[in-house]
Amino acid sequence: MVKLRGFRMAHSEKFEFKKLTPRARPVLKWAGGKSQLLPQLIPFFPTQFNRYIEPFLGAGSVYFSLDPKCPALINDANPELYELYLVLRDHPAALCRLLDKYSRKYSEQFYYDLRASQPRNPISKAARFIFLNKTGFNGLYRLNSKGHFNVPFGKREKCPLLYDEENIKRVSERLKKSQIKNMDFEKVIRLAKKGDFVYCDPPYSPLSRTSSFNSYTAGGFSDQEQNRLKEACAEAAHRGAFVAVSNSSAPIILELFKDWKIHLIKARRSINSKSHLRGPIHEVLTTSWDFKKNHFNSNHPGRPLFHL
Ligand SMILES: C[S@@+](CC[C@H](N)C(=O)[O-])C[C@H]1O[C@@H](n2cnc3c(N)ncnc32)[C@H](O)[C@@H]1O
Repeated sequence: MVKLRGFRMAHSEKFEFKKLTPRARPVLKWAGGKSQLLPQLIPFFPTQFNRYIEPFLGAGSVYFSLDPKCPALINDANPELYELYLVLRDHPAALCRLLDKYSRKYSEQFYYDLRASQPRNPISKAARFIFLNKTGFNGLYRLNSKGHFNVPFGKREKCPLLYDEENIKRVSERLKKSQIKNMDFEKVIRLAKKGDFVYCDPPYSPLSRTSSFNSYTAGGFSDQEQNRLKEACAEAAHRGAFVAVSNSSAPIILELFKDWKIHLIKARRSINSKSHLRGPIHEVLTTSWDFKKNHFNSNHPGRPLFHL
């Protein structure tokens, strides 16, 4: 056995790992993004399934860590994010050229001018989205009551790297092989069939009234939504899908998922503006199946479908 970035794999699996095509990486900074937690999450994921379904995509760190040949259905209720993925899929080169132009214009004034603009052209909308995400404060996404993006300028001296061209090409290729949707999660989870793997990373239930950011969309995500999510997931699991859900360790989540496996995941909360509230905290990954019996990566004969 060899140890590979935090989890164990057999030698034969390591060999296959090297042969895999390079993966795309997320193009956005996204609140609640899972990049840092992948080494803890992947060992719980099944190694064989028919289709990957992710109803709350965000920046897609889990989706992009999946083998590019695996069929996938991805979704996010945020319409701007959805349109960005369509442009990344269909017009990657034009998007990069516009971002080059924005990078040359980088200044606080340009940030606020672009923030106030309402482009209609999908490529301009996508470039605006990436520029505001990379140069705004902390990669936050926040809308005011009128639905306008209102995150302040990030105050970096120089323009950060807005994109990596090789990565954008990989992202585009990956997206071409996926179905991309912009719907409510329930409709997407209903599409899960026996043998599919559904990974849900919803806005988290707050640990306290002030501790959490969970409004990526105008409506927010209430306890009622967490209930609705559990019901949809339980039905999918009943149809024979593998379903995994990330969430905070708030009492309502532990209660809702008490009939599932609950795995503790050590996280570091970085979205809080107060540095003393950014320490380590536990969140959970709940799974509809008992991984020890069947599907733990290093015990299963299949090739790992996810990796770092
Ligand atoms: C925690 S983020 C997902 C982060 C993602 N796993 C990543 O690594 O970047 C939650 C996402 O759920 C989306 N969302 C919120 N309400 C939704 C709904 N009712 N249906 C589908 N997506 C929703 C938000 O737009 C947001 O992108």
